[in-house]
Amino acid sequence: MSLVTTKEMFKKSIDEKFAIGAFNINNMEFVQAILDAAAEENSPVILQTSSSALKYARIPYLKHMIEAGLEEHDVPVALHLDHGPDFETCKLCIDNGYTSVMIDGSKYDFEQNVELTKQVVDYAHSRGVVVEAELGKLAGIEDDVNVAQEDSMYTDPEQALEFVQKTNCDSLAIAIGTSHGAYKFKGEAKLRFDILEKIKALIPETPIVLHGASTVVPEYVEMCNNYGGNMPGAKGVPDEMLHEASQRGVSKINVDTDLRLAMTAGIRKIFVENPEVFDPRKYLGLGRDYIKDCVKHKIKDVFGSSNKATF
Ligand code: G3H
Ligand code: 13P
Ligand code: ZN
Repeated sequence: MSLVTTKEMFKKSIDEKFAIGAFNINNMEFVQAILDAAAEENSPVILQTSSSALKYARIPYLKHMIEAGLEEHDVPVALHLDHGPDFETCKLCIDNGYTSVMIDGSKYDFEQNVELTKQVVDYAHSRGVVVEAELGKLAGIEDDVNVAQEDSMYTDPEQALEFVQKTNCDSLAIAIGTSHGAYKFKGEAKLRFDILEKIKALIPETPIVLHGASTVVPEYVEMCNNYGGNMPGAKGVPDEMLHEASQRGVSKINVDTDLRLAMTAGIRKIFVENPEVFDPRKYLGLGRDYIKDCVKHKIKDVFGSSNKATF
């Protein structure tokens, strides 16, 4: 199968109330684990690369690894730029076959965000590529930008309507209490479903995206800590909340931290339990197995996208 845009999969997600996982990739093991999991679940899936992943892995390698995955599997896959920082990076990805890009103008004021997003939308749409934009600021670390907790800002529903009308973006990332990384909540986890509801009422046809949506899987955190890591107080969005989000109109759920934790847990376990091992296939292989388990669980038990691969 060839790469698809997110148009059809998002339409189905809105009609049938489920979410599609968007998983960050950096190397071959991530690509294989995610695509194997999606294929076994017969689920559509989004593979996404941040601009730092582009620098690390380099576009030709990413492109060809994904093509290899598409030769093996027959589920709909979109290739997406995550947190595109500027027009040039979006253009680079569009020109290299990405089917979806995010322009992250959330660091700018409303009008500048609109202007930048429109510029990307014009370029992307004329080439058949879809665009995700962001309105509202997530707390935590977004790519290179560290947005302080006090600056965090929930998305204003009225502004969301105006933003979508002015930019014609294809999907919108909103801020309702999630944040990037492994330390999302100091106390109880809390998402503002009331804000999501208001946004959905105003822009029911616009697919909504949740960033910073890792669960920070406790088993993997525990393994990391037990095998020499140091991640006290790591905490994410509970599965039940993500499931609720998927049923209340969130179409795309972004996951990076959980995959990093899964890989790290596998590597740490092998290193501690088998100090004689120096074959990367042993430790990367276990990391890959953990990522696959993690992705399958999300698709099947949390996001509800199993058997939604036909549009
Ligand atoms: O939202 C940000 C992602 O987790 C990407 O992080 O820039 O370290 O690849 P990264
Ligand atoms: P997490 O850090 O919660 O995995 O969020 C990833 C993300 O939003 C990528 O854009
Ligand atoms: Zn993000």
